[in-house]
Amino acid sequence: MSKRQILVTSALPYANGPLHLGHLLETIQTDIWVRFQKLRGHDCTYLCADDAHGTAIMLTAEKLGITPEEQIKRIQADHQSDFDGFLIDFDNYYSTHSPECEHYAQEIYKRLDANGHIEKREITQLFDPEKELFLADRYIKGTCPKCKTDDQYGDNCEACGATYTPADLINPRSVISGATPVEKASTHYFFKLAEFTDFLKSWTRSERLQPQIANKLGEWLEAGLNSWDISRDAPYFGFEIPGAPGKYFYVWLDAPIGYMASCANWCEKNGRSFDEFWAEDSKTELYHFIGKDIINFHGLFWPAMLDSAGFRKPSAIYVHGFLTVNGKKMSKSRGTFINAGTYLKHFQPEYLRYYFAAKLSGGVDDIDLSLDDFIQRVNADLVGKLVNIASRSAKFIHKGNAGVLSDSVHNADLWERVTGKADDIAHCYEQREYSRAVREIMALADAVNEYFDAQEPWKTAKDPATEAQAVAVSSQCINLFKVLMTYLKPVVPALAGQVEGFLKTELDWPERFEPLLVHRIEKFKPMITRVEADAVDKMLADSRDEAAAAKAPVAKKPVKSSTEPAGQIEFDDFAKIDLRIVEIVNAEYVEGADKLLKLTVSLGDETRQVFSGIRDAYEPAQLIGKLTVLVANLKPRKMRFGLSEGMVLAAGPGGGDIYLLEPHEGAKAGMQVK
Ligand code: MSP
Ligand code: ZN
Repeated sequence: MSKRQILVTSALPYANGPLHLGHLLETIQTDIWVRFQKLRGHDCTYLCADDAHGTAIMLTAEKLGITPEEQIKRIQADHQSDFDGFLIDFDNYYSTHSPECEHYAQEIYKRLDANGHIEKREITQLFDPEKELFLADRYIKGTCPKCKTDDQYGDNCEACGATYTPADLINPRSVISGATPVEKASTHYFFKLAEFTDFLKSWTRSERLQPQIANKLGEWLEAGLNSWDISRDAPYFGFEIPGAPGKYFYVWLDAPIGYMASCANWCEKNGRSFDEFWAEDSKTELYHFIGKDIINFHGLFWPAMLDSAGFRKPSAIYVHGFLTVNGKKMSKSRGTFINAGTYLKHFQPEYLRYYFAAKLSGGVDDIDLSLDDFIQRVNADLVGKLVNIASRSAKFIHKGNAGVLSDSVHNADLWERVTGKADDIAHCYEQREYSRAVREIMALADAVNEYFDAQEPWKTAKDPATEAQAVAVSSQCINLFKVLMTYLKPVVPALAGQVEGFLKTELDWPERFEPLLVHRIEKFKPMITRVEADAVDKMLADSRDEAAAAKAPVAKKPVKSSTEPAGQIEFDDFAKIDLRIVEIVNAEYVEGADKLLKLTVSLGDETRQVFSGIRDAYEPAQLIGKLTVLVANLKPRKMRFGLSEGMVLAAGPGGGDIYLLEPHEGAKAGMQVK
């Protein structure tokens, strides 16, 4: 087997919010592939980065009252910690907001320009006169010109399905400031994509793309390509275009260049040559793993840019479908919009890695995370079938042979059958047919368990005359377990690590597997626990709470900056709020809610039930008998757990760092706060 040099990327997540399980579908798919290549001894490098530029990030930072640089730093730290949590083993994780990215964006642009592939043109767009910002379609809302439904986006109507341009909207307004947009002209820079039509027609048909993707791009190529608008006017968070003050590269121009930037940064740190990976005649294989929503950028714009600029093109682009949860699009209100961090609070990463592997193929179909199926598969396959082999076999080896595996193979046929699948399973991984690999591995695990059952070592172990047989059978099962765990190692690397400790040997994937003979192993310790159904419910409840919490503090009108005083209110407005001292007469946990406590508070002559998000900060028992402040005339709110009749006041950023307000001595329940 000759050693291949391979460079692999996952799409760069936007630095505009937390990662969700859809992102993880992609990075888990990629990580499994990379780990497989490394396990087989290839020189494989896995790169990614945050995609840090664009209007959305600029506006988010502004809303939070921080600089975009600060915002992208925070998000990147968050992304990296989630990726670590899911055991995604990047060789480098970088940012498009980096000197390397700026360098290559400018360099590539200059080459496109020198080759005559850039044109300038004046275009007219809607402009927010208050914010002084050109408005992309999604930042404009108004009344549908066709069916007259209000509150529709600038490009299509969700009510009647009509498509139009923002200028057609009745009463258009800027989503950012509420101002009425005006038309304004400015010069934009375009990449002349149409000149690459012939190149792209052959490139997209050269086995680099899955057939469905090649067909889709083929349709676009047949319809004819337009020039691609690669500039945005200031204010914009991105890189300025050389020789064009006030004009910035559109985020999607420098996003894929982020792959190069991450590579350059990694080469610098590891003493490797950038050209080895990116020169036009590079022999390194290059694969981009992406979702189906971004195939135009990767399958048309990117190869055309690389072609013009004289860099190598991708060897292939591997496109996956979208993640659905319980058969539907992820939904914040159903709690199925699950953030990576939320999942990790409730489950081990490898459950999901295994589940995704069991569902992923080389195709572009959507993948469903059915939560019942998730519980069932993890428990039945990983715990019940696979690890069970080790847990039931190990004890006979310790009891009958002081933990030393026997000196011969008990059943050569079964050994051949299991090790003989190696090439087949390797082929599945290579083709990204992980579900087939998993099916094969679990079928073999079934065979091993059946063999164990048929040999009944628990019986033979009882009789000194036959105890050696129990040891031989169990040793064989341990050896088969080792092979199966090696096959599955790219999917469940941490579990494989535990198995390496247990077997006191490394799980590598040789040309031919050899059994461990006369080899001492450790006592078996539980390696993985079953998934509990109520943990799934808790995760969904958490996701719902988080989605609601994330929505709540965002004011309808964005705050200009954090140093500006919050909007002032009239005294009369304040006087409307009925604040009362209350005594907490009972406090308890709420089944299915990780953040809430249910409080019963007394106003002297009446009691109320209130849900409060202070569970991380207080033990219920600690609160009983304490006085605090209640917003007593807040409209009762129906929550999933019951009615909340008011709100108690607390201060602090949240989580465990939150403090109930408590009056000075002398205050009594029922008193009005003035
Ligand atoms: N920043 C761009 C990519 C630039 S690559 C040079 C982007 N970012 S993203 O955060 O929106 O998406 C990152 C990747 O996650 C994309 O490949 C996208 O297809 C994938 N997914 C986002 N949501 C997804 C699902 N619900 N399911 C599966 N993959 C999804 O696009
Ligand atoms: Zn309409």
